[in-house]
Amino acid sequence: MTKIRLVVALVMCATVPMMASSHAEEYASFAPNVVDASTGAIRVPEGYRLWPTLGTWAHANTDKTLEANGPGLHEYHVVYTQPETIAHYRKTGQFPDGAVLVKELLNANTMAMTTGPAVGHATTTKGWFVLVRDTKGRYKDSPLWGEGWGWSFFTADDSVRTASKNFKADCVGCHVPAKKLAPANTLEEDKWIYTLGYPVLQKK
Ligand code: HEC
Repeated sequence: MTKIRLVVALVMCATVPMMASSHAEEYASFAPNVVDASTGAIRVPEGYRLWPTLGTWAHANTDKTLEANGPGLHEYHVVYTQPETIAHYRKTGQFPDGAVLVKELLNANTMAMTTGPAVGHATTTKGWFVLVRDTKGRYKDSPLWGEGWGWSFFTADDSVRTASKNFKADCVGCHVPAKKLAPANTLEEDKWIYTLGYPVLQKK
């Protein structure tokens, strides 16, 4: 082996494993405890209730629930995210790679309280919707990933195994209206999010 060939071989030996391991590390550090690095499977992160809330959607009784229960609320959707996601969005106007949005669905009861005649409060958990921001297009073969996000739904009895099968069929159609509601200068992938309900993301 000539000297040059030897040097090339040595450099290859040193860099190829380094490249492989930095790739693995990057995947492993992406949304830890939420995304399985090798398959892209998503789970509901433990302790998400200790994260700050982005906002809450309150669903009023209408039609059958109004007839049965009178005026009030029957469901809350509470949306949580990591504190660093809020800090990043307030600075840049964009969701960072690895941002996790957890929407918890809760049943609600309404009752008269000293503050008012029809005051709603959350009761039991019905399930979760989870979105994970992926700026790098990591899991191209997974039907749960696309349009810059990982998309999953979980029933209340299983926070680990995704109940939804395909984000295009199960999620996207209902998030199309968010695109029109988002400010025009929003990044295309971020327009999937109903940010109008999250005042904390606005700087003022
Ligand atoms: C029936 C329509 C509908 C479907 C289906 C749907 N979404 Fe949504 N989603 C909404 C609406 C509307 C909101 C905000 C208002 C609300 O929750 O009532 C929302 C909010 C969210 C949020 C909070 C962040 C945001 O965009 O404001 C997450 C997370 C979420 N959805 C994930 C998903 C995932 C994942 C799927 C598929 C598994 C999905 N959604 C399917 C309509 C839908």
